[in-house]
Amino acid sequence: MNAPLYSGKRSDDVIDYLLKRRSMKVKQMVAPAPNAEELELILKAASRVPDHGKMFPWYFVVFEGDARTQLGDALKQAWLTEEPDAAPAKLELEAERFTRAPMVIGVISRMRKGKNPQWEQMLSAGAACQNLCLAANALGYATNWLTEWYTYNDAFRTAIGLDERDHVAGFIYIGTPEGEMEERDRPDLSKIVTHWSPDAALNKGDEYDKDGFDFPPEKIKFWGR
Ligand SMILES: Cc1cc2nc3c(=O)[nH]c(=O)nc-3n(C[C@H](O)[C@H](O)[C@H](O)COP(=O)(O)O)c2cc1C
Repeated sequence: MNAPLYSGKRSDDVIDYLLKRRSMKVKQMVAPAPNAEELELILKAASRVPDHGKMFPWYFVVFEGDARTQLGDALKQAWLTEEPDAAPAKLELEAERFTRAPMVIGVISRMRKGKNPQWEQMLSAGAACQNLCLAANALGYATNWLTEWYTYNDAFRTAIGLDERDHVAGFIYIGTPEGEMEERDRPDLSKIVTHWSPDAALNKGDEYDKDGFDFPPEKIKFWGR
């Protein structure tokens, strides 16, 4: 008999976890990384996300062990395209990005050919990132979903093998947690939730706007900076 599938199954542990979850700073992550068996569970959970049209519009790239240091040259070259006069010390620092945690998993949104909107394919990649984090957390590992400058750098994208259909949804840094975490601000639900009625003004949370993007919305850059 197949194992039961869940759409509703009360789990106070899961609720408690979701209400307390936090990302951990990468400098607080230490070895060990998930082992092979744990990694498989994490990737299975990451690939079990809502996905309109069964397109599986994402794939995963695992960076562990020496692969993290082998990225050093690519990071240096990429940083030189951002800052051609970069000091050697700064280049060395950038080269170490992927060694800050014992494992990094790139979740890549890959535009599948088909009928479902690209926006929906991208959203599914975001869901994969979060499932990946939650699964790793449930196995006892800390995570942090980062993009940082190299995600949007063409030289770096090419160096790791991405093409024009690929966009990094996130690099998920994973390690064994060390030390405490502090809470951060969370949104006030009354500012972002509306129980709709014909007369209700929607609570859109616009008080959380910051300087940066301009409107009209066609100016929003879906593809990065
Ligand atoms: C797509 C995406 C990219 C992110 N990139 C960065 C990043 O480059 N640097 C950073 O400090 N936080 C980044 N974050 C935020 C962290 O993942 C994390 O959510 C944040 O530090 C808040 O902590 P919390 O997850 O505990 O709420 C990113 C989040 C998302 C969803």
